[in-house]
Amino acid sequence: MELQINGGRRAVAAEWRDETLLHVLREHLGLVGSKFGCGVGLCGACTVMLDGVATRSCVLPVSAAVGRELTTIEGLAGADGALHPLQRQWLEHQVPQCGYCQAGQLMSAAALLQQNPRPDAAACEAAMSGNLCRCGTQQRIRAVLIKAMA
Ligand code: FES
Repeated sequence: MELQINGGRRAVAAEWRDETLLHVLREHLGLVGSKFGCGVGLCGACTVMLDGVATRSCVLPVSAAVGRELTTIEGLAGADGALHPLQRQWLEHQVPQCGYCQAGQLMSAAALLQQNPRPDAAACEAAMSGNLCRCGTQQRIRAVLIKAMA
């Protein structure tokens, strides 16, 4: 098996077939930006983009990602290292606090803007409501998305 990750290809051993995508990313492929939070699809810390759609990698068997375009937080910046516009806004608004949930937050926001470059407030709320943050960064994330809507 092979995964298409962040514009490249990575081999996936057959014995990993039934592991979750998150486990394979973190433990086998060294892509540790996606975080393990709840492990049951409820917190959003593990969010990646699969064919441009925000996806919880903690509940997806890695085999379900084969043949699809996978983007993790490590691939959100451009190939030349230029930050994604959202990453620049995240820095400008000093969004992160402890940081644990932020990769998932960014991937959900990036997927939203990829599908809908000018989302309204309701679309932002719907897209981000599944990403929890115990530090309370939601207000700053909302401010970034409102700027994206302008
Ligand atoms: Fe995947 Fe919480 S770790 S949703």
